[in-house]
Formats: sequence, structure tokens, C-alpha cells
Amino acid sequence: MFISFEGIDGSGKSTQARLLAEALRAEGRDVLATREPGGSPGAEEIRRLVLEGDPERWSAETEILLFTAARRDHLERTIRPALAAGRIVISDRFADSTRMYQGLTRGDLRATVDALHAMMIGIEPDLTFLIDIDPVEGLGRALARKGHEERFEDFGIGMQLRMRVGFLALAAEFPARFRVVNGARPPEVVAAEVASLARAALA
Ligand code: ADP
Ligand code: TYD
Repeated sequence: MFISFEGIDGSGKSTQARLLAEALRAEGRDVLATREPGGSPGAEEIRRLVLEGDPERWSAETEILLFTAARRDHLERTIRPALAAGRIVISDRFADSTRMYQGLTRGDLRATVDALHAMMIGIEPDLTFLIDIDPVEGLGRALARKGHEERFEDFGIGMQLRMRVGFLALAAEFPARFRVVNGARPPEVVAAEVASLARAALA
């Protein structure tokens, strides 16, 4: 079982991915929690290249290559071995993030993202949680963290608004694997809904 969490910056994906991993482990399940960009040593090195620095540092096309390179390494070294060992893999972001962030923020590159994905990655999660939130609230939460990985937050609120609409459209495009969850509630309330949806999918 391969589960991903998606959503705009600050929606609460990382919090929910961690809480779901804890809940499933408490039931005795073997869970690997991972994240993108990153999740393997090589991909974590690429993470620094894409998340730090000036928003104009890379074109959208170059980013597609960098994020896909990171994902391929993550897939080879972390995700595939864990799935082969029968573990549940929970990833904080996966290919849907590239479909949105690189595919629609600076022109329509969705077909390019999908073509490279088909060639180099080729798998989708069994279950994807879209943590949905008002971008004003999400960006406020994300910027309150004050880290160094703010390249995408620095694109501003207009982009986050487009991303939210894009993610909801993506969920409608792939209804079998997507579950849309309202993230504007206390973390433990969101987590209870996520855990019950995950248990239903695992059963
Ligand atoms: P993401 O991974 O989507 O960027 P995080 O889980 O890192 O989101 O959460 C962003 C910030 O918002 C963190 O400081 C976190 O503690 C806080 N946060 C997460 N979930 C909630 C929630 N349901 N309500 C309020 N604050 C939250
Ligand atoms: P993440 O660490 O999940 O950031 P946040 O907690 O703010 O949501 O992801 C870092 C950033 O990388 C985020 O702004 C989205 C971006 N990203 C892409 O642009 N393309 C991708 O394929 C992935 C996986 C992430």
C-alpha cells in the first residue's frame, strides 16, 4: 500500500502524514514514512537545489527534470524496496505535486510532466489524501515556520490560489485514489478522518 499526502504549502500534510504513520504503527503495521523532494540521500541533495534560493533560479522545465530525478532516486532506493518488503509507504508529496507546481504555475506543462512521469516513474499511489485549505490560512502557517525552504512560498498568494483549484481538479480527475479532507480543523480532528479513510482502504 502506497499512500501520498498532497496539498498547498502549509495545508498540514506533514503533520497528517506523521499522525497517520503513528496511528498505523500503533495498530502493529509496518510503516515507512518518507517525503518529497527527498526520501533518499541523493534526492535530499537535490531538495536543497530546488527549495532554496531565488524563485527565478530555475525554469519550470528544469524543475520538472530535477524533481523527476529526485523522485526516480527516491523510488529506486526507498519506495520500491519498502513496498517489496510488504511495508506501508506514506509519502509527504509525490508526483501530483509536480503536476501542479511545475505543470500549471508558469504555463501549461502538464503534458510534459505526465510524459516524463510515464517514462521515468510509472507508478501512482494507491491512496492520495488532498488536505484542502484556504491558501491565505495555509500560506500564513507556512511562512510562520520561517525556514530556508521558501522558494515556492515566495511565488505568493496568487499562485497558491491557482494551486488549490488545480489540486481539487486533480482529485476530480482521479477519484478512485483521491480523498479530499478539510484541513481547516484541529489537527486531531483531521487525523481521525484520515485514519478512518486509510483503514477503509487497507481493509
Ligand atoms: P505542510 O506540510 O502542508 O506544509 P505542516 O504540517 O508542516 O504543513 O503544517 C504547517 C504549520 O501549520 C505547522 O506549524 C503546523 O504545526 C501547523 N498546523 C498543521 N496542521 C494544523 C491544523 N490542523 N491547524 C492549525 N495549525 C496546523
Ligand atoms: P514541502 O516540504 O512539502 O513544503 P511545504 O511543507 O511548504 O508544503 O515541499 C517543498 C516545496 O516543494 C513545496 O513548495 C512544493 C514544492 N514541490 C514542487 O514544486 N514539485 C514537486 O514535485 C514536489 C514534490 C514539491
